[in-house]
Amino acid sequence: MGDLVISSDNLQKSFRLGIFRKRVEALAGVSFAVEKNEIFGLLGPNGAGKTTFIKLLMGLIFPTAGSARVLGRPVPDLGAKQRIGFLPENPYFYDYLSCEELLDLMGRLFGLDARERRRRAGALLERVGLSRIVKESANLPLRKYSKGMLQRIGIAQALINDPELVVLDEPMSGLDPIGRREIRDLMVDLRREGKTVLFSTHILSDVELLCDRVAIIVDGKLRGSGPVDKLLSPRLLHTEVVLASGDRTEICEVAPDGDLDAVLRDALAAGKHVRSVTPRRESLEDLFMREVEAGTSRVSQS
Ligand SMILES: Nc1ncnc2c1ncn2[C@@H]1O[C@H](COP(=O)(O)OP(=O)(O)OP(=O)(O)O)[C@@H](O)[C@H]1O
Ligand SMILES: [Mg+2]
Repeated sequence: MGDLVISSDNLQKSFRLGIFRKRVEALAGVSFAVEKNEIFGLLGPNGAGKTTFIKLLMGLIFPTAGSARVLGRPVPDLGAKQRIGFLPENPYFYDYLSCEELLDLMGRLFGLDARERRRRAGALLERVGLSRIVKESANLPLRKYSKGMLQRIGIAQALINDPELVVLDEPMSGLDPIGRREIRDLMVDLRREGKTVLFSTHILSDVELLCDRVAIIVDGKLRGSGPVDKLLSPRLLHTEVVLASGDRTEICEVAPDGDLDAVLRDALAAGKHVRSVTPRRESLEDLFMREVEAGTSRVSQS
């Protein structure tokens, strides 16, 4: 096992709600570790406890029980914070700042000199695909930014201190397909630069494309953590075969235990053309449902 960048030990968080102070257990003792230089995905349905876990790691809220270490220091630690970049789930920006001013402010908070702030802001705006917009309307206040543009500036501000650890709470939220791809590429670049990335998401394809390892949280409990292919094995629902004869198209579904070879052989023998063969797998939501229904952990720690 390599160096641990994040380790949580039985991390628990309860909230008291309403006049009867009803106890809500947002996290019920979660333990896992993130190693140096990996992209780690935090998965779970809405309300699972992902944001709570991230806030605990960032020292924004305090655990009811248990503890966490980040970059070798017990949370919270100011020295560690200087080496972390963080994108909150619902980032709040000063409405009247332009995005260059926001990056400059963040750079000041990290003690960067003016030249370095300008250099990094320029490079980051380029990196998150905002430099063209900034060139066209440099003074546009952030309150006039679209959701996707705000998400991009949120990611840029998380990188201003050239952090060793980047923590992103749903970085793809509000991004169009091109934006998502750009952010995926950026995360891969960060790993190539030796950095560690922890992010939360609901999007299975992003997880499959990006993550070295994941943790699945359902209902405040860890259902498992480990390599993606060991943990996420979405079931094959059926294979969709699109056949064409003349200008007629037909679609047939072959069950997982069906004889796909025979279907294709018969179709070709009948003079049809095979247009596509697509395995249809269950979604991350189906997988979560299965996890919730199973009720027990099927995967061990690694
Ligand atoms: N400040 C709070 N006060 C009371 N309950 C809270 C608070 N913050 C979170 N919770 C509760 O804790 C649980 C976990 O919430 P959390 O925001 O961590 O989920 P999540 O996995 O990030 O969900 P999503 O995918 O919707 O972002 C929820 O039941 C939520 O209502
Ligand atoms: Mg959340």
